[in-house]
Amino acid sequence: AIDPQFHENREKVDDHDGHDVWGPVDEPDKLGIHGTHVAVDFDLCIADGACLEDCPVDVFEWVDTPGHPESEEKADPANEAQCIDCMLCVDVCPVDAIDVDAG
Ligand code: SF4
Ligand code: F3S
Ligand code: ZN
Repeated sequence: AIDPQFHENREKVDDHDGHDVWGPVDEPDKLGIHGTHVAVDFDLCIADGACLEDCPVDVFEWVDTPGHPESEEKADPANEAQCIDCMLCVDVCPVDAIDVDAG
């Protein structure tokens, strides 16, 4: 599961379309965590797609990640500022790749 303390345990290494990327990143095998309020551990995501289907405000968009061992696309929290903290995505992800900081 995604580390809910990733803010403390990881370092911001990049910016992707306006959201933070938390390392370590070593493409294409290691992609880190994308987002801060809505955070997706790209190294855990298996492209199940439940988060894209269920999010009521369309926070997620597919991003291609060719060569990653778990899946060749990931749910990117492209619109994390739209999040209404419903926690549906956290509940439906089969690999617990998503953390939403509703505090
Ligand atoms: Fe979307 Fe709800 Fe997840 Fe926020 S908590 S990203 S609104 S499904
Ligand atoms: Fe990935 Fe979980 Fe969404 S596996 S596509 S973050 S439901
Ligand atoms: Zn991203």
